Amino acid sequence: MFADRVLSGMRPTGSLHLGHYHGVLKNWVEMQQEFECLFFVADWHALTTHYDNPQVIAQSTWDMVIDWLAAGVDPARATLFIQSRVPEHAELHLLLSMITPLGWLERVPTYKDQQEKLSEKDLSTYGFLGYPLLQSADILIYRANQVPVGADQVPHIEFTREIARRFNHFYGREIGFEDKAHAAVKKLGSKKAKLYEELRTRYQEQGDDEALQSAQALLDEQQSLSLGDRERLFGYLEGGGKMILSEPQAMLTAASKMPGLDGQKMSKSYNNVITLREDAAAVAKKIRTMPTDPARVRRTDAGDPEKCPVWQLHQVYSSDDTRQWVQTGCRSAGIGCIECKQPVIDGVLLEQNPMRERAQQYLDDPTLVRNIIADGCEKARKLASETMRDVREAMGLDYS
Ligand code: TRP
Ligand code: SF4
Repeated sequence: MFADRVLSGMRPTGSLHLGHYHGVLKNWVEMQQEFECLFFVADWHALTTHYDNPQVIAQSTWDMVIDWLAAGVDPARATLFIQSRVPEHAELHLLLSMITPLGWLERVPTYKDQQEKLSEKDLSTYGFLGYPLLQSADILIYRANQVPVGADQVPHIEFTREIARRFNHFYGREIGFEDKAHAAVKKLGSKKAKLYEELRTRYQEQGDDEALQSAQALLDEQQSLSLGDRERLFGYLEGGGKMILSEPQAMLTAASKMPGLDGQKMSKSYNNVITLREDAAAVAKKIRTMPTDPARVRRTDAGDPEKCPVWQLHQVYSSDDTRQWVQTGCRSAGIGCIECKQPVIDGVLLEQNPMRERAQQYLDDPTLVRNIIADGCEKARKLASETMRDVREAMGLDYS
């Protein structure tokens, strides 16, 4: 088997916040210790929804890469690149589009969901319909077998698996595979050839696993077969040819429970975020002005942490002791809300300090970031062009 190769992408459509850190980036940082990782800026994906305002993409791209680096993504361990700088993604997308049934795309749940959710945008475009297929190309071009995604993206991975299977079904045979397989069968000698054919038929017509195993054992014993013929006969047994594209697995990342400043999930669209590297004074101010339990009108009114968004942040940032202090102090009006918020402010700043520090060198010298990306694009392109060579050959496009 191949070693695990992880691939994930993120759209550059605005600045990242602590929800992205807790939901995605922390996970990337852990994975880079264990696996070969490729992380990319999905700028073409951003265009599928932001085609009328492409300017945000350029600015967000560089900010986002700095956010990744700030969060601890390490360019010595992971390959970081920009999708549009590896144009092979587009070539694979185009070639895969030839075999993609429209119905498969129309049935991807995010298609209708997003059209409804973003109803202010006209998303009845060819690019938007095809966006899951672009994602399939992103994954398949690196033969990535593990794709960390949230639950909403799992159908895209399932779709990708179906596309890979369909591709292999159409093109996973060399030209003249059947003839070459028949010729190889003859080389077994008439008695064994007959037995092989019988076992193959039994397996393919009746799904008889024992027949498959016997036929495989028969092939194992044949020492005079060439390597190519052996592979053909093994492939022919199961009906398939060569596997050109491999099916990826979704690596489900737990949904981010990161609460925002108002107690709802942290999200740009709710306007309740703390950005990843937000200025310390701004962070303190945002938390100090957070709403609290509305029952605590005066300092002497007791409160209930369960009704307070600040408590949700304590659950992310505070120790057991501090949480105990909040529970007791709030319910007895022993502490004030400003006092209660201080440990949260401290916790957020402590988490962000190393991020602000790591980001500084990249802000001081933007060529560092440009170089990291240039290196990553070059590595990615090399991997992508290897797959494309196999794909073109399988589809018969390498003719002269
Ligand atoms: N579609 C993903 C999103 O909207 C981003 C993405 C694009 C992606 N290509 C990918 C994620 C490939 C994983 C693998 O969040
Ligand atoms: Fe919320 Fe803390 Fe005030 Fe209680 S004391 S209402 S938990 S901020």
